[in-house]
Amino acid sequence: MYKTKVTENTYQASKNLEGILFEGIWDIPNGTSVNSFIVKGDKTAIIDGFWDPETITDLLEYLEELEIKPTDVDYLIVNHMEPDHSGWISAYKEVNPDVKIIANEKSKDLLEAFYGIEENIVVVEEGDKIDLGQGHELEVVFIPNVHWPDTMAMFDHKTGTIFSCDAFGSFGSVPEENYDDKLTEEQIEFYEEQAVKYYSNIVASFSNPVKKAIEKAETLPIEIIAPGHGIVWRENPGKIIDDYRRYADYQKGIAKEEITLIWGSMYGMTEKAVNHILKVLETEDIKVNVHRLPEDFSGQILTSAWNSTGIILAMPTYEYKMFPSMASVLRELGSKRVQGRKAFRVGSYGWSGGAERELEAIMEEGRMNWEFLEPVEFKGVPKEEDYELIEERVKELVKQVKEAVK
Ligand code: FEO
Repeated sequence: MYKTKVTENTYQASKNLEGILFEGIWDIPNGTSVNSFIVKGDKTAIIDGFWDPETITDLLEYLEELEIKPTDVDYLIVNHMEPDHSGWISAYKEVNPDVKIIANEKSKDLLEAFYGIEENIVVVEEGDKIDLGQGHELEVVFIPNVHWPDTMAMFDHKTGTIFSCDAFGSFGSVPEENYDDKLTEEQIEFYEEQAVKYYSNIVASFSNPVKKAIEKAETLPIEIIAPGHGIVWRENPGKIIDDYRRYADYQKGIAKEEITLIWGSMYGMTEKAVNHILKVLETEDIKVNVHRLPEDFSGQILTSAWNSTGIILAMPTYEYKMFPSMASVLRELGSKRVQGRKAFRVGSYGWSGGAERELEAIMEEGRMNWEFLEPVEFKGVPKEEDYELIEERVKELVKQVKEAVK
């Protein structure tokens, strides 16, 4: 656990998680941090927490270094009940059974459901203030659905720090000094990439609530953004707000000048078309992300698709339907609201088509609203005329993407 000072009377405990699937689903090859914060006025509050109960040992050591007895902690503030932030609460209550848990009505229910905790809960409402003394007054700011309906943030009026939980977070394990003012430009760029992965995998379904949270944040005199994951923004908090605004806007379709090619092939016939597509794309000045199914993780595909204005799908028909892992990924893109993309599909079929029919159903079901060029389907291997049509349509797609992002 890293133990650092954020600002006056405000401390951070940060722990990296690696080698896991986040939420049991999302690959995080670069890890992620979980950040917790301690604010010490006349009273002391711990804001957000950790995944694992064992973390309590490190946290107690940190409190000792700060000359805070565990029994002198007055409040545990639960901004969001997802267990990556709340998994240690029962362990903390064992060392301080009288600690008051600050929660809202929605998280109160989950405290009981997850950990059987029913007592010493103080239910707060939007705008309530928790006075820690010495000017540290924490205002409750509801930001529902960023990420769960219970999510809220705390704003310390004395230091201008917003403890934003999942909002403005990013994946990526962090160094000890995970502050934007201590990082190089390259590191900031790395966390920007990690923030898109985090956004697309974790909060993409909630882009409208994210926009509302940004509007609310902009009414506060924010000096520091201290999220539950990733880096703490002390020098330029406006950057992560602007980035999140941009990520939220990608939902509707106009994202970066990039194309994501998602493909699968059973016996190499669709793969021949894929190779041709790649050859055509090499002649175009555009960034291309390539993902093969079923090998690639859907989290990576989702990130590429979120960043891309154009998407190319290449898959065969499989037993009168679509190549199954493609259907599953497309449903995931639909449920994460990857909408309004410029798109094109190619694919092989054996004795009948079927992929196209299922594709239309998935688009309809997910209200994805992708604008498709006419597909190129071929019986068996692609023929010369198929290659010509593919080239023509890939070039048309590139043109449309470039025009859209202009
Ligand atoms: Fe980081 Fe939704 O929990």
